[in-house]
Amino acid sequence: MRGKILIKRSYPVHSVFRNFTITLIIILTGFSSLHAQNAMMNVDARKLISLNGTWDVILDPAGGGEWRQIWLEKKPEKKTDFIEYSFDGGPSLQVPGDFNTQMPELTYEECMVWYRKIFNYELDSGKRLFLHFGAVNYTADVYLNGKKLGSHEGGFTPFQFEITDFVKSGRNSIVVKVNNQRNKEGLPALGFDWFNYGGITRDVNLILTPRRFIEDYFIQLGKHSFKEINGWVKINGIHSIQDVRILIPELKLNKIFKSNQDGMVPVNFSAAFQLWSPENPKLYNVIIESETDTVADQIGFRNIEVKGNQIFLNGKSIFVRAVNIHEEKPIKGGRANSATDARVLLGWARDLGCNLVRLAHYPHNENMVKMAEQMGIMVWDEIPVYQQIQFSSPVVQQKMNQMMTEMIGRDKNRCGVVIWSLSNETNSSPDRDKSLIDLSKKCRLLDSTRLITSVINDQQYKNNNIRVWDTLYKYFDVMSINEYLGWYVPWQGRPADTKWEFVYQKPVIISEFGGEAKFGTNIGPKDEAASWSEEYQEQIYKDQVALFNVTPNLAGVCAWILVDYHSPTRMHPVYQQGYNRKGLLSELGEKKKAWFVLNQYYKSKKLDYTSP
Ligand code: GCU
Repeated sequence: MRGKILIKRSYPVHSVFRNFTITLIIILTGFSSLHAQNAMMNVDARKLISLNGTWDVILDPAGGGEWRQIWLEKKPEKKTDFIEYSFDGGPSLQVPGDFNTQMPELTYEECMVWYRKIFNYELDSGKRLFLHFGAVNYTADVYLNGKKLGSHEGGFTPFQFEITDFVKSGRNSIVVKVNNQRNKEGLPALGFDWFNYGGITRDVNLILTPRRFIEDYFIQLGKHSFKEINGWVKINGIHSIQDVRILIPELKLNKIFKSNQDGMVPVNFSAAFQLWSPENPKLYNVIIESETDTVADQIGFRNIEVKGNQIFLNGKSIFVRAVNIHEEKPIKGGRANSATDARVLLGWARDLGCNLVRLAHYPHNENMVKMAEQMGIMVWDEIPVYQQIQFSSPVVQQKMNQMMTEMIGRDKNRCGVVIWSLSNETNSSPDRDKSLIDLSKKCRLLDSTRLITSVINDQQYKNNNIRVWDTLYKYFDVMSINEYLGWYVPWQGRPADTKWEFVYQKPVIISEFGGEAKFGTNIGPKDEAASWSEEYQEQIYKDQVALFNVTPNLAGVCAWILVDYHSPTRMHPVYQQGYNRKGLLSELGEKKKAWFVLNQYYKSKKLDYTSP
């Protein structure tokens, strides 16, 4: 049987009573409508049972599955019965993977697809069981054995449900209703410039834990320190004091810490760490031991902060040499999710001369974040608060907070992540300002150790002067500015004569710049944008470098974008074919002429700075 997984398990007596109580509550209340929990991170370090592979599906373009209650998987009982749906005998899809690239009839679909996975489960003594999704785009309604576990909204962050008391001994069936339709109160909302890949796009696992387990932890250097750890460990399932031990064998560090009543364990210690940096991406094997559980993680320690108009990594001023990347499989297309995808994309970024990648415009899969850290590439992590957002809606504000919390929850121990970005190109309004100011404050409460920013592009450009006026920048460490001078916005004078006026004196990152070219296109006048020629794009980059050289407080630049990528709004049949062609590389990884301009600039900036 597909997905046959055998796990030995037997219930201790007390939990039989607990299960009876839970079952009674479930029956009386018509079943728990559990909301997805904040997911455990670093799941690879846990006892996992993978549910990746072939899932049976029912395509539901008209949305009839809800009315037919597909999750019940009804079967004919009497001779006169018939059921107008079935997972058996139907198509299947691979998980992880978007559904658009797996079935021709789904290529451009934004619709509902019902997934089903059968697994066999044998009871195991004193364990707890969780169903963990790396991500589902865009909403997921999750059922187990015909009963709803709960729902999750957001296409790029993990979520989980505890199923300890709902899983059966023997055959179990998970049904997930996936819906990637856009909605006005979504994040992103109705308009966005990337392909809306739907489906169970990242790993699905069963996670087996002891009854009392290490639920979460934060082990990173304090904001201004090079050796002090101000962290914590959260134990789930205890109601008594429990010791937690932190071991870092390489440093011969072995320390015990006491938990308080609700399982929180403050962790404070210092050590002579080799600091993580792009030139020395040092990671330590950190072991967290409670009385009943052990989790190991590869953790790096570094310090990132802003002083005046500069960004400092480990006390040295750095210049951010960056590129934007969408989460699309290199060469093949489709939603990227594997370590191989990450290695290729990050290899291309390193080849360009980057020390940072902006993972646009949403949290990418964990392979990308972990691989970047291992390769010594800093990461800019962002939530999809993108352009036209309904900031006035309390529901949207709650979703913004949820997605930020899930992003930070997953990546907070990844020292390679140095920037949390809370939005991209939103228009100034009282609702937008209040929402993002509140979010920035919550972000700092969740993690005070990293830089936070929001990307804004409402600067005024007049008489070759750029006035950066948005007061929202006050609440962020870095002023991130998108500008497309030379592409969407013709120059009003010589780039080198451009004057800047900033509302605040802070480090500036040009977080997007560039223009389009189709690789190998040498037809048409080179000085016309409509030629989509490489030479036109090359000139954009030469002019941008001239602008950078006269930009005060410039702490970094981030080109849009590493590689041509699918975006359905890019519809020119000769030059675009459904691709946004601002890549420095073609979709096949071929270097355009502009690539060499930026590569040369990054080499020069590397020499300018003593640090990486
Ligand atoms: C915007 C936006 C990107 C978009 C790019 C473009 O600045 O942030 O998501 O793809 O411009 O127009 O290519």
